[in-house]
Amino acid sequence: MSAVSSRLPVFPWDKLEPYKATAAAHPDGIVDLSVGTPVDPVPALIQQALVAAADSPGYPTVWGTATLRDAIVGWCERRLGAVSFAHTNVLPVVGSKELVAWLPTQLGLGTGDKVAYPRLAYPTYEVGARLCGATPVTYDTETFAADAAGAELDPSGLKLLWLNSPSNPTGRVLGKDELTRIVAWAREHGVLVFSDECYLELGWEAEPVSVLHPDVCGGTYEGIVSVHSLSKRSNLAGYRAAFIAGDAAVLGELLRIRKHGGMMTPAPVQAATVAALGDDVHVAEQRARYAARRDVLRAALLKHGFRIEHSEASLYLWATRDEPCWETVGHLAELGVLVAPGDFYGAAGERFVRVAFTATDERVEAAVKRLG
Ligand SMILES: Cc1ncc(COP(=O)(O)O)c(C=O)c1O
Repeated sequence: MSAVSSRLPVFPWDKLEPYKATAAAHPDGIVDLSVGTPVDPVPALIQQALVAAADSPGYPTVWGTATLRDAIVGWCERRLGAVSFAHTNVLPVVGSKELVAWLPTQLGLGTGDKVAYPRLAYPTYEVGARLCGATPVTYDTETFAADAAGAELDPSGLKLLWLNSPSNPTGRVLGKDELTRIVAWAREHGVLVFSDECYLELGWEAEPVSVLHPDVCGGTYEGIVSVHSLSKRSNLAGYRAAFIAGDAAVLGELLRIRKHGGMMTPAPVQAATVAALGDDVHVAEQRARYAARRDVLRAALLKHGFRIEHSEASLYLWATRDEPCWETVGHLAELGVLVAPGDFYGAAGERFVRVAFTATDERVEAAVKRLG
């Protein structure tokens, strides 16, 4: 038996364990700003919807209830500006991480095919390519900032192009112009675009735009799919609630495969997702919490001698002391603050750390004091 896991990178978080132990030894306890997992309560209206659907003895469907599809279609039109959307343009997934990891396999990609993702990126894009035996390639997001769109990216053999705006880890937002150029370039070369937009609701100094916006895609969805997650916008990481939206032909094929694979969102989570997508108030409240934490952490890091790049959106500050990232991780661990080393996200991050502001107000305040 060949071990599939041998194709995969070392699970990076294990490397952080010794630093976690150092930070945990702080007399006032650890401030963990590394993983970026939500800590605030699941909004009451979402919990109520989950509980109300608790009596769900039958199998749910992979495509979800008609009510769920209506809710997703409605949200895409209202929030992303998508036009003429239908049920065939949406598909629930069981949290977006499983989709990212298994998409290349489900698309039938394999040896000889290439999957591209940004040089600094969420590690699961690479994992997905490796799981199916495709070749992972990285591109510099700046490639698409200049007029020479795609100049550096070789389209030969390229089957799937991942975008991620706002970006994890840098918080960078791709403007409408950049997105439009990328979509046009990909369509010209027959490359399928998947745009991971799971931080779209978390813009601070920029207004993130979806690839589904008509100014970007021209109001048609051939070759483009956006990925959305409720983990961050609605504190639902524990529910595994997410969906994809866009090209009906691509989604139809994925639906067929995922039906055979039994990749069903549990019925109570489907009901909770309907409630979450129908309410903007809790999103605004959660944004306000994060904005306040971001402001104080940002100021404290700058005062402590950090430089911060990008970070105009998402849940992270991309910060550097112009030294190797593991030195910075060690320095902050001594202060009882745990952050993620930038090299987890690609070699280009080796002099940065990613500071998540997903900690309680009390813990964020403790970090600010220690940095002061
Ligand atoms: C860029 C990006 N995509 C996808 C995910 C996965 O989110 P989930 O599986 O909770 O939907 C994350 C999680 O942090 C992420 O940062």
